Amino acid sequence: MKMKCFNKLASCTFAAAMALSAMPTACAADSEENSAKGKTVYSFDFEDGDVSAFTNRGDNDTTVISTTDESSVSGSKSLLASGRSKEWNGPAFQLDDKLEPYTEYYISAKVKGKYYTNAMLSMQYTTADGETKYSNLVSLSGNDWQTVDSVKVSFTDEMTGVFVYFEGGTDDILIDDFVVTQAPEAEIEQDIPALKDVFANDFKIGTAITPNDLSSKATMALVEKHFSGSLTAGNEMKPDSVLNKAACQAYFEETGDDTVPQISFSAAKPFLNYCQKNNIPVRVHTLVWHSQTPDWFFKEGYADDGEWVSKEKMLARMENYIKAYFEELTALYPDIDFYACDVVNEAWTDGGTPRDPGEQGQGGSQKSAWVQVFGDNSFIEPAFEFARKYAPEGCKLYYNDFNEYMPQKITAVIEMATELKEKGLIDGLGMQSHLDVRSGPDAFPSVDVYNKALDKYAELGLDIQITELDATTNTNPTDESFTAQAEYYKGIMDSIYAHKDNISAVVIWGVTDDASWRADRCPLLFDGEYKAKPAFYSIIEGREIPEQPTTQGTTAKPDKPTTGGEETNVLLGDANEDGEVNMADVASIIQHIGNHDAYALSAQGEANVDMCDGNAGITGNDALAVQLLVAKQIDKLPYVE
Ligand code: XIL
Repeated sequence: MKMKCFNKLASCTFAAAMALSAMPTACAADSEENSAKGKTVYSFDFEDGDVSAFTNRGDNDTTVISTTDESSVSGSKSLLASGRSKEWNGPAFQLDDKLEPYTEYYISAKVKGKYYTNAMLSMQYTTADGETKYSNLVSLSGNDWQTVDSVKVSFTDEMTGVFVYFEGGTDDILIDDFVVTQAPEAEIEQDIPALKDVFANDFKIGTAITPNDLSSKATMALVEKHFSGSLTAGNEMKPDSVLNKAACQAYFEETGDDTVPQISFSAAKPFLNYCQKNNIPVRVHTLVWHSQTPDWFFKEGYADDGEWVSKEKMLARMENYIKAYFEELTALYPDIDFYACDVVNEAWTDGGTPRDPGEQGQGGSQKSAWVQVFGDNSFIEPAFEFARKYAPEGCKLYYNDFNEYMPQKITAVIEMATELKEKGLIDGLGMQSHLDVRSGPDAFPSVDVYNKALDKYAELGLDIQITELDATTNTNPTDESFTAQAEYYKGIMDSIYAHKDNISAVVIWGVTDDASWRADRCPLLFDGEYKAKPAFYSIIEGREIPEQPTTQGTTAKPDKPTTGGEETNVLLGDANEDGEVNMADVASIIQHIGNHDAYALSAQGEANVDMCDGNAGITGNDALAVQLLVAKQIDKLPYVE
């Protein structure tokens, strides 16, 4: 049994390493190339008339699924979804009863509407709390057959009822050549320095992650290696994810009181569970914001078409919301270090004025319902008062914004922060730092402008955190674009580094380019193949890894064994003697067993490996034991069965 597992491990480690080395540097993975590399796990051309893997979407869905020879891409038949009476009606294909969690798949298909194709491929799943979530994966429109080209999907073992489905309009939908491919298992580069180590003595290094990231093993391996100093939920802790409209309305109906908003962290739970399990500090993002906050939150009776509430009622709602937010968070996750919170986000325009009043509306208006109700930015101070009152001990309070290098915005932010500081209500400023490299020399902002803004904020005497750093290139990046991006990142990081005494955290807004909110312009440090980009190397260039870093994060560090009460130098599992135990050690052991001469271990390395399975002699069982530790299947070495 043991050896079987060991063989499997050896083959996937090296197959993945080979696959990676051939990947191009690009924003997103090249979809055709990926499909070609992956293993096809399901393929339907519907020529045999079998549509049993496809269903409609439940009780109220009138869709009837059959095959037709009306039109097809390959052969003479395609799947026909007829009788659709609502836009959301299927066809649907269930994933979690056929595929593995934490594994990446690509979905490809041909899609056609009866007269004109106006369809979407979407995904649905149910959370551990029983809430159903939906997300749009790709939109397709045009005459005739349209192509779904290798859309990446994955899910965690906390998700059930996971479906992809086609929707849009109420006309018939035709599907052909529906193919599910398993993406090649990706390994991350273990032999590069970990960002959290390089900056260990300077500031926390973190990132923001999405539910999709959580279901990607390779992305989470990058998080663990580089970014376990701090995590932010990309969306799931924002008001529109936390406020529960149905529960708010039900509470109001029951009590007649519409000042006690009802909340739920169900969307954030997978993220928070991960942070708790891995002991990763969390930035709370965000409490009071004009965007990603539903308009009904500001309306009488929480009704979409209600009147705007009074300032007094909104103050009560704000206090009760912030109170419930922190009470519930700390009750559910008493062990997480919620070390920072963006209390108010983006309240000042670039011109240094409050936003225009109004609804957020569909498609993200710049208007603010907070300004609508309060008449100006006077909602900021009570937000900080309530956050100070209810946030857990040790949770520092920040004002967070973008473009905080525009002159009038700097003035407005400094004036606001000075007043809040005098009242003891604020601990720091969050500079989002969504930057744009453009072609290089015309970057916005220039490094100099960014640096001067940091100078000004540092003078304030408040802490600074870089909360959402990313720097876009352009939509068709070339090698030169990535070089320009690397130079720009270096300039920005040098400026941050020069202010490190005032900066306690640097958060990169996402892990890999293809999963970024600005994926079309490749703004991050890792590409869609999990490879470090030139920008990664540029920000660590010339920096030494401190010898005794104050540790950030959670790489497995087994206890040192003792001999007769004396501590030895043996760190069980650490084959390559880098002070950590991870997959690189597993690979070193396997290579060493395969060829002692070409892959010799040092004497200390051998001593570190020899007894991992409790027996003398380095064998595959030592590698297996180390792998079990890294995969957190066991919590210490040696592993004796
Ligand atoms: C972004 C998310 O990354 C996207 O997924 C979402 O569609 C929009 O919001 N400023 C912020 C972040 O404070 O919350 C925003 O995050 C990016 C801009």
